[in-house]
Amino acid sequence: MEKREKIFVTGHEGMIGSAILRRLKEDGFTKLVIRTSYELDLTDQKMVSDFFMAEKLDYVFLAAAKMGGILANSSYPAEFIYSNIQSQSNVIHSAWKSGVKKLLFLGSSCIYPKGCPQPMKEEYLLSGQLEPTSEPYAIAKIAGITMCQSYNRQYGTDYISVVPADLYGPNDDFDPETSHVLPALIRKMHEAKIRNEHEVMVWGTGSPRRGCLHVDDLADACVFLMNSYDESEMINIGSGEDLTIRELALLIREVIGFKGDIIFDESKPDGAPRKLLDVIKIRNMGWEPKISLEKGIRQTYEWYKEHSGKLK
Ligand SMILES: NC(=O)c1ccc[n+]([C@@H]2O[C@H](COP(=O)([O-])OP(=O)(O)OC[C@H]3O[C@@H](n4cnc5c(N)ncnc54)[C@H](OP(=O)(O)O)[C@@H]3O)[C@@H](O)[C@H]2O)c1
Repeated sequence: MEKREKIFVTGHEGMIGSAILRRLKEDGFTKLVIRTSYELDLTDQKMVSDFFMAEKLDYVFLAAAKMGGILANSSYPAEFIYSNIQSQSNVIHSAWKSGVKKLLFLGSSCIYPKGCPQPMKEEYLLSGQLEPTSEPYAIAKIAGITMCQSYNRQYGTDYISVVPADLYGPNDDFDPETSHVLPALIRKMHEAKIRNEHEVMVWGTGSPRRGCLHVDDLADACVFLMNSYDESEMINIGSGEDLTIRELALLIREVIGFKGDIIFDESKPDGAPRKLLDVIKIRNMGWEPKISLEKGIRQTYEWYKEHSGKLK
């Protein structure tokens, strides 16, 4: 990417889009194009097509999507599959029609089969059944990846797909209804500390293992790959390390300074026992994350305290 080129970051108010935008600004890119979902609803085919034809964009980061944790996935399956397939199809197709040079599509680790061998290698995609609760979201993401590959094959485009590990950081979703485990734990323990409570309840046994990546590391990897990766096969982005939910909860308790107990509610579902991305491919290209989990959680907690008054 050259500084004079026009770059569209979709979903720039979301966690990933805002991190990519921050990163591009820091790098000195000035021709950055952004639109809120109110200004440009990506599910609207005509609006998206007209926008791409008028803007003549060079690069697109496709970070807009409807997403959430277990609860959101089971409550809004129709919204997730409709909105994601519709918006990503509109963007990818319009990018091709208007001659965009390169597009980066964001996948998700839930596209890998339930019970996938660990760590999950890129080649394991479509090798088994998906986790039923996230299936509508996962199928939309797999459709996006296949669409990028198909356009590359038929039209010679340069569209790449990345699969991030579970992310955390500024602009994360801290809503108890929809959030992922790390922000959910930060909020729970912070609120318990403020109210002088003696315990917090955490869903499940605490034994599942998760890998967490700071969103600024993800943005760094996305910019790196936009500049250096041009294969159709998707590529994983993660730290290559994981820990149990129990270890994660203890680390968050220490960062927050919550003195109470953590009780694991074993009547609630655990989700997959382990979800670790194999990151050999990106490591071999010379990329690795720079933010340690403890430092990242401290930063995220500071961000949460600053913004908690304005969050849902
Ligand atoms: N967060 C993670 O841990 C994680 C991990 C792996 C992959 N991903 C993937 O990365 C992408 C971004 O995730 P995120 O965490 O940044 O999500 P996010 O914080 O929920 O942000 C999503 C953004 O997309 C926008 N958007 C949704 N539907 C839209 C539409 N129809 N038209 C225009 N904009 C629309 C939202 O705008 P409004 O709020 O105005 O609707 C929001 O700004 C998603 O594809 C997600 O699947 C995320």
